[in-house]
Amino acid sequence: MVTSSIKFLPWWKTTTVYQIYPRSFKDSTNNGIGDIPGIISKLDYLQDLGVGTIWFSPFFSSPQADHGYDVSDYRSIASEYGTMSDCERLIQEIHNRDMYVVFDMVLNHTSNQHPWFLQSRSSMDNPKRNWYIWRDGQKPRGKKPPNNWKSIVGGSGWHYDEQTDQWYWAQFLPFQPDLNYRNTEVKQEMFDTLRFWLDKGVDGFRLDIINTVFEDESLQNNPFALTFFPSEEHDKSFFQNKLYTVNHPDNFAFAKELRSVMDEYSDPERFLVGEIAASLETLKRYCGEKIDDIKTNGLHLTFLFQSLNARFDANTFRNLISRYEQYFIEPYSPTWVFSNHDQMRRISKLGNDVNKAKINVMLQLTARGVPFIYYGEEVGMSNHRIPLRNAQDPVALKYSWLPQFIVNLLTRSGSISLNRDDCRTPMQWTSSPNAGFCSDKSISWLPVSLGYETINVDSEESNPDSLLNCYKALLKLRKETPALHSGSLNLLPPSLFGNFLSYQRIYDEQVVQIWLNFSKKPSYVSEIGKNPKLLFSTISDTDTLNESKLHLAPYQGVIIGICP
Ligand code: GLC
Repeated sequence: MVTSSIKFLPWWKTTTVYQIYPRSFKDSTNNGIGDIPGIISKLDYLQDLGVGTIWFSPFFSSPQADHGYDVSDYRSIASEYGTMSDCERLIQEIHNRDMYVVFDMVLNHTSNQHPWFLQSRSSMDNPKRNWYIWRDGQKPRGKKPPNNWKSIVGGSGWHYDEQTDQWYWAQFLPFQPDLNYRNTEVKQEMFDTLRFWLDKGVDGFRLDIINTVFEDESLQNNPFALTFFPSEEHDKSFFQNKLYTVNHPDNFAFAKELRSVMDEYSDPERFLVGEIAASLETLKRYCGEKIDDIKTNGLHLTFLFQSLNARFDANTFRNLISRYEQYFIEPYSPTWVFSNHDQMRRISKLGNDVNKAKINVMLQLTARGVPFIYYGEEVGMSNHRIPLRNAQDPVALKYSWLPQFIVNLLTRSGSISLNRDDCRTPMQWTSSPNAGFCSDKSISWLPVSLGYETINVDSEESNPDSLLNCYKALLKLRKETPALHSGSLNLLPPSLFGNFLSYQRIYDEQVVQIWLNFSKKPSYVSEIGKNPKLLFSTISDTDTLNESKLHLAPYQGVIIGICP
């Protein structure tokens, strides 16, 4: 008999997501750019790794000015990545392996080369004019932007277009004009685009900067703020409080409309995860209200970017877990994300220390929530410093005038990576010169990161102590252990002696304890519960568990099954 509603957790709450940046995963044509057939050739690897869902950064038609985040046709595939039939085969092959597939939807803006925008900018009375956000400049001559709004990457978000003597709005870069969702035709078209892919079997969407879709209609100026750098927790940056341009209340209602499009589909249920930088309170609002024990009526998940720059210590994570449990208790679910295609890779923030990376991934895969793993994280790929002047990333190019010592200072602070190319280098498959991403004679679109001779899938597969094998073992244990993928979470009391973190996951009768030593010093725990059984350890050491005493070596993490 089913005794708790938790038994019915939907698949997307118990899955683990693996993000692929298509340009960098596997090149099957040896032109130096990854592609869909290349990805298909590596699906067995992903199945064996044990991830449940694959999210692809966009591979729709695009001039690639922002490598796919500037779409020029949402219903076709960029020729450098493959064809529509490659894409259909990709979806099919993923499903054949009992995995799910998530596409990246850039709803906020299109490319300025999208036929809609070309039409829109062509004249004031074009039927597509109102598909984008056009306004007159400030009086008297209209040669100043309509108001003070800044884009999220800095500088005014308004761009003058001579052809019609008006300004268009772009939250991101000038070649990414914002669509106007106050126009119902736009909304309809984009909802139909989602249905187009759902009908092809896509299981969910990652929603690009979904908190910037609506702005204040009356164009009120944003207030001044004494903050320069953007943050995960607030909407202030570049000396502006983005009150009227980011997390506008109309976005919350929009999240619910998107949810109802997803709810038209079942078997399997489809899901949405929003890319939103905001406080936990605001993030929760995007997930809507609770409608029953396992459902809300907004986005299914939002990224919680609070973990990106979390300090590597037990107290920081204890606080983070406790805040996540406070805000995202069932039917809400936290997410755990440490790296992605916009951020410095986590291991680079941990001094490229594999032992720390093991503790980090143990936390990611055992705390309550949906983990998002970034390609190459599982072998310990690090950020590769590429000078701004050689950047392909358009955000880096915008700042390429910055003197190198300032870039070094910012990068060293650990939280800011000005050149997103640094975390997008080719996947490291083997120890051969292009790391097996493309042939040795090809030139990969970005250089391969340092250390690929040993940090690669081939070398790590045969080493039982490798980071890759740690990921595999944890993913397997998580899949097989209901307490780990569906259980509730209890933090165990902090210890006065030692920088370790411990918590329990509980599912019906099953109790599992997680112990993570964040310190370079060993730690002892004298009483951990009845008949403990060692389920996993980052270090193969027979002295770890002695009756009910636990001995944690420096940076050791263990998972223990407890008899109730
Ligand atoms: C998101 C994406 C980023 C992209 C931007 C504009 O932040 O993650 O890569 O450049 O949106 O679409």
